[in-house]
Amino acid sequence: NTYETILVERKGRVALVTLNRPKALNALNLQVMNEVVEATEALDRDPDVGCIVLTGSAKAFAAGADIKEMQPQGYMDMYLNDWFTAWDRLGALRTPTLAAVSGYALGGGCELAMLCDILLASDTAVFGQPEIKLGVIPGIGGSQRLTRAVGKAKAMELCLTGRTMDAAEAERAGLVSRIVPADELLAEALSVAETVAGMSAPVAMMAKEAVNRAFETTLAEGVRFERRVFHAVFAVADQKEGMAAFVEKRKPDFRHR
Ligand code: HXC
Repeated sequence: NTYETILVERKGRVALVTLNRPKALNALNLQVMNEVVEATEALDRDPDVGCIVLTGSAKAFAAGADIKEMQPQGYMDMYLNDWFTAWDRLGALRTPTLAAVSGYALGGGCELAMLCDILLASDTAVFGQPEIKLGVIPGIGGSQRLTRAVGKAKAMELCLTGRTMDAAEAERAGLVSRIVPADELLAEALSVAETVAGMSAPVAMMAKEAVNRAFETTLAEGVRFERRVFHAVFAVADQKEGMAAFVEKRKPDFRHR
Protein backbone atom coordinates (compact mmCIF):
# COMPACT_ATOMS: atom_id res chain seq x y z
CA ASN A 1 0.00 0.00 0.00
CA THR A 2 1.93 3.01 -1.29
CA TYR A 3 -0.92 5.44 -0.67
CA GLU A 4 -1.12 7.98 2.14
CA THR A 5 -4.80 8.86 2.22
CA ILE A 6 -6.45 5.53 1.37
CA LEU A 7 -6.10 1.87 2.34
CA VAL A 8 -6.43 -0.80 -0.32
CA GLU A 9 -7.16 -4.40 0.62
CA ARG A 10 -8.05 -7.52 -1.35
CA LYS A 11 -10.53 -10.12 -0.14
CA GLY A 12 -10.76 -12.78 -2.81
CA ARG A 13 -12.26 -11.14 -5.92
CA VAL A 14 -13.40 -8.11 -3.90
CA ALA A 15 -11.23 -5.02 -3.42
CA LEU A 16 -11.84 -2.69 -0.50
CA VAL A 17 -10.73 0.94 -0.73
CA THR A 18 -11.02 2.86 2.54
CA LEU A 19 -10.71 6.63 2.66
CA ASN A 20 -8.28 7.36 5.47
CA ARG A 21 -7.94 11.03 6.42
CA PRO A 22 -9.65 10.72 9.81
CA LYS A 23 -8.50 14.13 11.12
CA ALA A 24 -10.30 15.88 8.24
CA LEU A 25 -13.34 13.56 8.19
CA ASN A 26 -12.02 12.18 4.87
CA ALA A 27 -12.24 15.56 3.16
CA LEU A 28 -11.45 14.97 -0.51
CA ASN A 29 -8.32 16.92 -1.37
CA LEU A 30 -6.49 16.46 -4.66
CA GLN A 31 -4.25 13.79 -3.15
CA VAL A 32 -7.27 11.70 -2.14
CA MET A 33 -8.74 12.14 -5.61
CA ASN A 34 -5.53 11.12 -7.35
CA GLU A 35 -4.99 8.13 -5.06
CA VAL A 36 -8.56 6.85 -5.34
CA VAL A 37 -8.51 7.20 -9.11
CA GLU A 38 -5.08 5.60 -9.49
CA ALA A 39 -5.89 2.72 -7.14
CA THR A 40 -9.31 1.97 -8.60
CA GLU A 41 -8.05 2.13 -12.18
CA ALA A 42 -5.34 -0.41 -11.28
CA LEU A 43 -8.01 -2.64 -9.68
CA ASP A 44 -10.20 -2.17 -12.74
CA ARG A 45 -7.42 -3.54 -14.95
CA ASP A 46 -6.94 -6.58 -12.69
CA PRO A 47 -8.93 -9.55 -14.01
CA ASP A 48 -8.98 -11.04 -10.50
CA VAL A 49 -11.06 -8.13 -9.16
CA GLY A 50 -14.81 -8.42 -9.71
CA CYS A 51 -16.13 -5.64 -7.48
CA ILE A 52 -14.64 -2.57 -5.78
CA VAL A 53 -16.03 -1.37 -2.44
CA LEU A 54 -15.38 2.23 -1.45
CA THR A 55 -15.91 3.18 2.18
CA GLY A 56 -14.89 5.71 4.83
CA SER A 57 -15.04 5.67 8.62
CA ALA A 58 -18.00 5.19 10.94
CA LYS A 59 -18.23 8.98 11.42
CA ALA A 60 -17.65 10.09 7.85
CA PHE A 61 -17.72 8.53 4.43
CA ALA A 62 -16.39 11.93 3.35
CA ALA A 63 -17.34 15.38 4.67
CA GLY A 64 -16.88 16.92 1.25
CA ALA A 65 -14.21 18.36 -0.94
CA ASP A 66 -11.38 19.89 1.10
CA ILE A 67 -12.60 23.38 1.89
CA LYS A 68 -9.21 24.52 3.20
CA GLU A 69 -7.53 23.48 -0.05
CA MET A 70 -10.14 25.24 -2.20
CA GLN A 71 -10.38 28.45 -0.18
CA PRO A 72 -7.43 30.31 -1.78
CA GLN A 73 -8.10 29.19 -5.36
CA GLY A 74 -9.17 31.55 -8.11
CA TYR A 75 -10.95 30.86 -11.36
CA MET A 76 -7.73 30.39 -13.35
CA ASP A 77 -6.39 27.89 -10.77
CA MET A 78 -9.59 25.86 -10.93
CA TYR A 79 -9.75 26.02 -14.72
CA LEU A 80 -6.11 25.29 -15.53
CA ASN A 81 -5.92 22.46 -12.97
CA ASP A 82 -9.26 21.17 -14.30
CA TRP A 83 -10.30 20.84 -10.65
CA PHE A 84 -12.24 17.61 -9.87
CA THR A 85 -12.39 16.36 -13.48
CA ALA A 86 -10.26 13.31 -12.59
CA TRP A 87 -13.20 12.04 -10.49
CA ASP A 88 -14.99 11.31 -13.77
CA ARG A 89 -12.57 8.41 -14.20
CA LEU A 90 -14.09 6.69 -11.17
CA GLY A 91 -17.48 6.73 -12.86
CA ALA A 92 -15.90 5.38 -16.05
CA LEU A 93 -14.54 2.17 -14.46
CA ARG A 94 -15.90 -1.01 -15.99
CA THR A 95 -15.74 -3.08 -12.80
CA PRO A 96 -18.86 -2.65 -10.63
CA THR A 97 -18.31 -0.34 -7.65
CA LEU A 98 -20.18 -0.15 -4.35
CA ALA A 99 -20.17 2.77 -1.92
CA ALA A 100 -20.67 1.75 1.72
CA VAL A 101 -21.66 4.99 3.43
CA SER A 102 -21.65 5.56 7.17
CA GLY A 103 -21.85 9.01 8.75
CA TYR A 104 -21.35 12.18 6.72
CA ALA A 105 -21.57 12.02 2.93
CA LEU A 106 -21.73 15.74 2.24
CA GLY A 107 -20.90 17.75 -0.85
CA GLY A 108 -18.11 15.92 -2.64
CA GLY A 109 -18.71 12.97 -0.30
CA CYS A 110 -22.30 12.61 -1.52
CA GLU A 111 -21.09 13.06 -5.09
CA LEU A 112 -18.41 10.41 -4.62
CA ALA A 113 -21.04 7.95 -3.32
CA MET A 114 -23.25 8.74 -6.31
CA LEU A 115 -20.35 8.02 -8.69
CA CYS A 116 -20.48 4.41 -7.49
CA ASP A 117 -22.84 1.82 -8.95
CA ILE A 118 -24.48 0.48 -5.78
CA LEU A 119 -25.02 2.73 -2.77
CA LEU A 120 -25.50 1.04 0.61
CA ALA A 121 -26.02 3.25 3.66
CA SER A 122 -25.76 2.65 7.37
CA ASP A 123 -28.56 3.96 9.58
CA THR A 124 -26.19 6.77 10.65
CA ALA A 125 -25.60 8.07 7.13
CA VAL A 126 -26.21 11.76 6.37
CA PHE A 127 -26.41 12.96 2.77
CA GLY A 128 -26.48 16.46 1.37
CA GLN A 129 -25.08 19.05 -1.01
CA PRO A 130 -24.37 21.92 1.41
CA GLU A 131 -22.02 23.78 -0.96
CA ILE A 132 -24.42 26.71 -1.17
CA LYS A 133 -23.66 27.52 2.46
CA LEU A 134 -20.02 28.07 1.42
CA GLY A 135 -21.00 30.26 -1.49
CA VAL A 136 -20.33 27.59 -4.13
CA ILE A 137 -22.26 24.88 -5.96
CA PRO A 138 -21.60 21.13 -6.37
CA GLY A 139 -18.57 20.44 -8.57
CA ILE A 140 -18.38 16.64 -8.94
CA GLY A 141 -21.75 16.08 -10.59
CA GLY A 142 -24.03 16.52 -7.58
CA SER A 143 -26.53 18.84 -9.22
CA GLN A 144 -26.97 16.27 -12.01
CA ARG A 145 -26.72 12.89 -10.29
CA LEU A 146 -28.73 13.88 -7.20
CA THR A 147 -31.48 15.24 -9.45
CA ARG A 148 -31.57 12.03 -11.47
CA ALA A 149 -31.58 9.97 -8.27
CA VAL A 150 -34.20 11.78 -6.17
CA GLY A 151 -36.02 14.05 -8.61
CA LYS A 152 -36.09 17.79 -9.04
CA ALA A 153 -38.08 18.90 -5.99
CA LYS A 154 -35.87 17.27 -3.39
CA ALA A 155 -32.61 17.90 -5.26
CA MET A 156 -33.50 21.55 -5.67
CA GLU A 157 -34.38 21.93 -2.00
CA LEU A 158 -31.16 20.25 -0.88
CA CYS A 159 -28.94 22.24 -3.26
CA LEU A 160 -30.60 25.58 -2.47
CA THR A 161 -30.87 25.25 1.32
CA GLY A 162 -27.98 22.91 2.15
CA ARG A 163 -30.35 20.79 4.25
CA THR A 164 -29.14 17.23 4.80
CA MET A 165 -31.10 13.96 4.60
CA ASP A 166 -30.82 11.08 7.02
CA ALA A 167 -30.55 7.49 5.80
CA ALA A 168 -34.30 6.83 5.95
CA GLU A 169 -35.11 9.85 3.81
CA ALA A 170 -32.33 8.94 1.37
CA GLU A 171 -33.74 5.44 1.02
CA ARG A 172 -37.31 6.68 0.54
CA ALA A 173 -36.07 9.08 -2.11
CA GLY A 174 -34.27 6.32 -4.01
CA LEU A 175 -30.72 7.59 -3.43
CA VAL A 176 -29.58 4.42 -1.67
CA SER A 177 -30.48 0.83 -2.39
CA ARG A 178 -30.75 -0.26 1.27
CA ILE A 179 -30.05 0.75 4.86
CA VAL A 180 -28.00 -1.52 7.12
CA PRO A 181 -27.28 -1.14 10.87
CA ALA A 182 -23.98 0.74 11.23
CA ASP A 183 -22.07 -2.13 12.81
CA GLU A 184 -23.08 -4.48 9.98
CA LEU A 185 -22.45 -2.11 7.09
CA LEU A 186 -18.99 -3.26 6.05
CA ALA A 187 -19.81 -6.97 6.34
CA GLU A 188 -22.99 -6.49 4.32
CA ALA A 189 -21.18 -4.38 1.72
CA LEU A 190 -18.47 -7.01 1.33
CA SER A 191 -21.12 -9.73 1.07
CA VAL A 192 -22.97 -7.87 -1.70
CA ALA A 193 -19.64 -7.22 -3.42
CA GLU A 194 -18.71 -10.90 -3.17
CA THR A 195 -22.01 -11.82 -4.81
CA VAL A 196 -21.37 -9.38 -7.66
CA ALA A 197 -17.74 -10.52 -7.99
CA GLY A 198 -18.94 -14.13 -8.26
CA MET A 199 -20.91 -13.34 -11.39
CA SER A 200 -19.29 -13.45 -14.80
CA ALA A 201 -17.05 -10.38 -14.86
CA PRO A 202 -17.63 -9.48 -18.52
CA VAL A 203 -21.38 -9.96 -18.15
CA ALA A 204 -21.44 -7.84 -14.97
CA MET A 205 -19.58 -5.12 -16.88
CA MET A 206 -22.16 -5.30 -19.65
CA ALA A 207 -25.06 -5.17 -17.17
CA LYS A 208 -23.51 -2.10 -15.53
CA GLU A 209 -23.00 -0.47 -18.91
CA ALA A 210 -26.61 -1.15 -19.87
CA VAL A 211 -28.06 0.30 -16.65
CA ASN A 212 -25.82 3.35 -16.93
CA ARG A 213 -27.03 3.89 -20.49
CA ALA A 214 -30.45 4.68 -19.03
CA PHE A 215 -29.00 7.96 -17.74
CA GLU A 216 -27.46 8.91 -21.05
CA THR A 217 -30.06 8.31 -23.70
CA THR A 218 -33.70 7.96 -24.72
CA LEU A 219 -35.79 4.90 -23.84
CA ALA A 220 -35.86 3.65 -27.43
CA GLU A 221 -32.08 4.02 -27.85
CA GLY A 222 -31.47 2.49 -24.44
CA VAL A 223 -33.60 -0.55 -25.22
CA ARG A 224 -31.84 -0.92 -28.57
CA PHE A 225 -28.47 -0.77 -26.79
CA GLU A 226 -29.64 -3.38 -24.30
CA ARG A 227 -30.84 -5.67 -27.10
CA ARG A 228 -27.45 -5.53 -28.86
CA VAL A 229 -25.60 -6.30 -25.64
CA PHE A 230 -28.12 -9.03 -24.76
CA HIS A 231 -27.41 -10.69 -28.10
CA ALA A 232 -23.68 -10.25 -27.52
CA VAL A 233 -23.66 -12.11 -24.19
CA PHE A 234 -24.43 -15.27 -26.16
CA ALA A 235 -20.84 -15.06 -27.37
CA VAL A 236 -19.57 -15.15 -23.76
CA ALA A 237 -18.47 -18.58 -22.53
CA ASP A 238 -20.02 -17.83 -19.14
CA GLN A 239 -23.47 -17.71 -20.79
CA LYS A 240 -23.00 -21.36 -21.76
CA GLU A 241 -21.80 -22.17 -18.25
CA GLY A 242 -24.58 -20.24 -16.47
CA MET A 243 -27.38 -21.83 -18.47
CA ALA A 244 -25.80 -25.30 -18.42
CA ALA A 245 -25.48 -25.07 -14.64
CA PHE A 246 -29.18 -24.21 -14.32
CA VAL A 247 -30.23 -27.09 -16.55
CA GLU A 248 -27.91 -29.51 -14.72
CA LYS A 249 -29.15 -28.24 -11.32
CA ARG A 250 -25.68 -27.20 -10.09
CA LYS A 251 -23.90 -23.96 -9.23
CA PRO A 252 -22.26 -22.15 -12.14
CA ASP A 253 -18.48 -21.95 -12.21
CA PHE A 254 -17.96 -18.72 -14.09
CA ARG A 255 -14.58 -18.27 -15.75
CA HIS A 256 -15.01 -14.56 -16.35
CA ARG A 257 -14.65 -14.88 -20.08
C1 HXC B 1 -11.79 20.42 4.99
C2 HXC B 1 -12.90 19.55 6.79
C3 HXC B 1 -14.06 19.33 6.00
C4 HXC B 1 -14.00 19.70 4.63
C5 HXC B 1 -14.48 18.69 8.01
N1 HXC B 1 -13.21 19.13 8.02
N2 HXC B 1 -15.01 18.80 6.79
N3 HXC B 1 -11.79 20.07 6.27
N4 HXC B 1 -12.86 20.24 4.17
N5 HXC B 1 -15.03 19.51 3.80
C6 HXC B 1 -12.28 19.18 9.15
C7 HXC B 1 -12.64 20.28 10.12
O1 HXC B 1 -12.12 21.50 9.67
C8 HXC B 1 -11.97 19.80 11.37
O2 HXC B 1 -10.59 20.09 11.30
C9 HXC B 1 -12.14 18.30 11.29
O3 HXC B 1 -12.38 17.99 9.91
C10 HXC B 1 -13.31 17.80 12.11
O4 HXC B 1 -14.47 18.51 11.69
P1 HXC B 1 -15.46 19.23 12.71
O5 HXC B 1 -16.19 20.26 11.96
O6 HXC B 1 -14.73 19.64 13.95
O7 HXC B 1 -16.42 18.02 13.09
P2 HXC B 1 -17.96 18.10 13.57
O8 HXC B 1 -18.13 19.23 14.53
O9 HXC B 1 -18.29 16.71 14.02
O10 HXC B 1 -18.78 18.47 12.26
C11 HXC B 1 -18.85 17.57 11.16
C12 HXC B 1 -19.41 18.28 9.91
C13 HXC B 1 -18.56 19.54 9.62
C14 HXC B 1 -20.88 18.67 10.11
C15 HXC B 1 -19.34 17.28 8.74
O11 HXC B 1 -17.18 19.16 9.61
C16 HXC B 1 -18.86 20.18 8.32
O12 HXC B 1 -19.88 20.85 8.16
N6 HXC B 1 -17.96 20.01 7.33
C17 HXC B 1 -18.11 20.64 6.03
C18 HXC B 1 -19.20 19.98 5.23
C19 HXC B 1 -19.34 20.64 3.87
O13 HXC B 1 -19.68 21.82 3.74
N7 HXC B 1 -19.05 19.89 2.81
C20 HXC B 1 -19.13 20.38 1.48
C21 HXC B 1 -17.77 20.92 1.07
S1 HXC B 1 -17.83 21.66 -0.55
P3 HXC B 1 -9.81 20.85 12.47
O14 HXC B 1 -8.44 21.02 11.91
O15 HXC B 1 -10.54 22.12 12.72
O16 HXC B 1 -9.89 19.89 13.61
C22 HXC B 1 -17.86 20.33 -1.56
C23 HXC B 1 -18.18 20.51 -3.02
C24 HXC B 1 -17.08 21.06 -3.75
O17 HXC B 1 -17.69 19.23 -1.20
C25 HXC B 1 -17.54 21.67 -5.01
C26 HXC B 1 -17.42 23.13 -4.98
C27 HXC B 1 -16.33 23.67 -5.84
